[in-house]
Amino acid sequence: MRTFILTIALTLLLAASGAAQDDLADNCQADALAQQQSTFAAYLTLDFVDNVEQALANLFRLGALYQSMALDCGYQPNEVELDRLLEQTLSFVTLDDLILAQAVGIDVEAILVELEEAYGDPLQGQLLYNGLEPALGGGTLGCAGCHENEAVAPLTAGTWTRVHDIRLAMPAFTSYSHRQFLVESIVQPMAYITPDYAAMMPEIYGRQLTTQQLADLVAFLDSQDQLLDG
Ligand code: HEC
Repeated sequence: MRTFILTIALTLLLAASGAAQDDLADNCQADALAQQQSTFAAYLTLDFVDNVEQALANLFRLGALYQSMALDCGYQPNEVELDRLLEQTLSFVTLDDLILAQAVGIDVEAILVELEEAYGDPLQGQLLYNGLEPALGGGTLGCAGCHENEAVAPLTAGTWTRVHDIRLAMPAFTSYSHRQFLVESIVQPMAYITPDYAAMMPEIYGRQLTTQQLADLVAFLDSQDQLLDG
């Protein structure tokens, strides 16, 4: 009698664990994982307009969640599925939102505070400036395209000297720091138009640069301390 009960119990147990294993296998398909991730997404705020930091943190949580669910059930995604995993996580947000969330913006005062924490690399800045490194979103900046031709824009060479000796000596800029002038020139080019030049510098860089990239650009421009002609 005892053996009989034990056999039944064992059989039940095995059946139960078998069922659990089936469940596991089902839950472990990419579709099922994506479904579970979507369920969680509904509870997380992904507001890339009003609360960028929270939205990025939540997006990160969703990615981590997918990963841990996959690891828990022993799911080993292949390369195609890994791409899909990323795509699935990014489907909660538009690419534009993601880019914008990392961009430095156009609030000069706020940017100057952020820059205090950043260390600008002039060589990296030079690569960006010359379009040899892509900016945020994958495009190149095109600074050199205009600033290597004096007929089009103030020359790159001597930028530091020009800003220091000429621009900051102007009444309009007495309260400006050197860095403030450069940052404003880059993210809000229409705030001040250099005499003798056309207002043609694009107003896009606040969306195309991270804080680090802007720090690199400023460091590069600060290295342009050649003497001015005349
Ligand atoms: C389409 C041409 C064009 C592009 C691209 C361009 N600029 Fe300019 N930039 C100008 C012109 C023209 C001026 C002068 C008129 C003005 O103040 O807007 C200027 C002014 C400036 C100034 C102020 C210089 C001074 O002596 O007052 C800085 C700094 C500057 N640009 C940096 C940059 C950087 C950095 C980039 C790339 C991220 C860039 N520019 C891209 C045309 C351009």
